[in-house]
Amino acid sequence: ATATVAACTTPAPGKAGMPSRTFGAPAPLSPSPSQRLVEKTLVAKPVSLDLGGRIVSTWAYDGTLPGPLVRATAGDFLRVSLDNQLPADTTIHWHGIRLRNAADGVPGLTQDPISSGTKYVYEFTAPDPGTYFFHPHVGVQLDRGLYAPMIIDDPNEAGDYDAEWIVVLDDWIDGTGTTPDDVLKKLIADGGPASSGGMGGMDHGSMGGMDHGSMGGMSMGTPPWGDAGDVTYPFFLINGKPPTDPDVLTAKPGQRIRLRVINAASDTIFTVTLGGHRLTITHSDGHAVEPTEVGAFYIGMGERYDAIVTLGDGVFPLVARPFGKTSGGQAIAVVRTGSGSAPAVDAAPAELSGQVLIGSQLRPAESAKLPDRAPDATVDLALQGSMKPYQWGMNGAKFGENEPLTVKAGQRLRINATNQTMMTHPLHLHGHTFALPSGLRKDTVLMAPMQSFAIDLDADNAGDWMIHCHNIYHAEAGMMIALEYA
Ligand code: C2O
Ligand code: CU
Repeated sequence: ATATVAACTTPAPGKAGMPSRTFGAPAPLSPSPSQRLVEKTLVAKPVSLDLGGRIVSTWAYDGTLPGPLVRATAGDFLRVSLDNQLPADTTIHWHGIRLRNAADGVPGLTQDPISSGTKYVYEFTAPDPGTYFFHPHVGVQLDRGLYAPMIIDDPNEAGDYDAEWIVVLDDWIDGTGTTPDDVLKKLIADGGPASSGGMGGMDHGSMGGMDHGSMGGMSMGTPPWGDAGDVTYPFFLINGKPPTDPDVLTAKPGQRIRLRVINAASDTIFTVTLGGHRLTITHSDGHAVEPTEVGAFYIGMGERYDAIVTLGDGVFPLVARPFGKTSGGQAIAVVRTGSGSAPAVDAAPAELSGQVLIGSQLRPAESAKLPDRAPDATVDLALQGSMKPYQWGMNGAKFGENEPLTVKAGQRLRINATNQTMMTHPLHLHGHTFALPSGLRKDTVLMAPMQSFAIDLDADNAGDWMIHCHNIYHAEAGMMIALEYA
């Protein structure tokens, strides 16, 4: 999207200054006697991908889009070696995993960048079952295609379904000459997008239907989202495939499928539906929710939702429609359980025009609730900035110039978050999960323009962590802040 968006406030130059630390090679660890060792090697490298006849030169893990699945059971010891064959530094961040700080993948904060031509070993325990993904925490490399799903299985739960499908959503720039990094450089150099357009039909000034004070009060199907995208990404992908050459998922009629939906896009909120079916949402960002039956749901950048669906007999479109983007089509995969012709690339299941679930309105399962407790400390977090001039920050300055938030180990911390901009931002926290006022546990949540709400977390994972917008352009331009244990 390239519309001009007004800012409520502008980040002021800060004072803090965040020295970039050096770490050296990580000390090798070994699993405890009770832990299973799960080993995996990944190669990050340049690759040519065929996006439905258009050949794009980009970067990916093991040369595939998405990269290979990393899967383990909660409590396992993971040892993942990354071989960096990119012509650039990189890292891996394990999005949503409450792992040890040294394996979190943030260069200058938790490790040295992994230079071109070198290897790095990540060793950590993944404590919580769920649907996750991983990606670099360097520049906008995520947007080049360096992402892959990660599943942590529950050792105590077999899963009441016949099969499981991973559905990774992405948006994609042209890729035949311009890289996402070029796009960001140009946005910063030009002070914002050159023209408006591409977001036709959006009303940037209006905040109709919003409830500024809480997560409640919005009715289902009345999304408060404003513009969430900076750049026009003309391609939308499911599992790395464009609509003209879609992924085909096959099963038998009547089978129960667990969908694990991951939004790896940086610029696009999607509405997800499987035409002709009801979806029962069971997990949000890996955490169990009160099972909720919907026709369609929104998924923001960096969010994950799991749903159970019982399949009908025939051929059905699994559609991820970009929210608020009127050009560029949609992402689609084909679900086939019987005979029938393939759905059209622009298939528009009726569920898209019915009620669409706003994920933050889900209720947590009892097992996923944080214990009741009053906060020991409260801090404010303001999301700030604008498209023109192109600048993004948190708490008065861009990352590196803003003061880190601090917490003491053992505290219940309340973060009063306010989106002081006219865009929607997915707010993401590393190394922890937080509870919304409703109790819903998440690690990534969409904040609508001018929306405020509190998130609570238990400071039970010491280290230096990032909080940032998961529109990677915004993060890279400065919409990040550190959370440090005092
Ligand atoms: Cu997927 Cu720092 O984020
Ligand atoms: Cu943002």
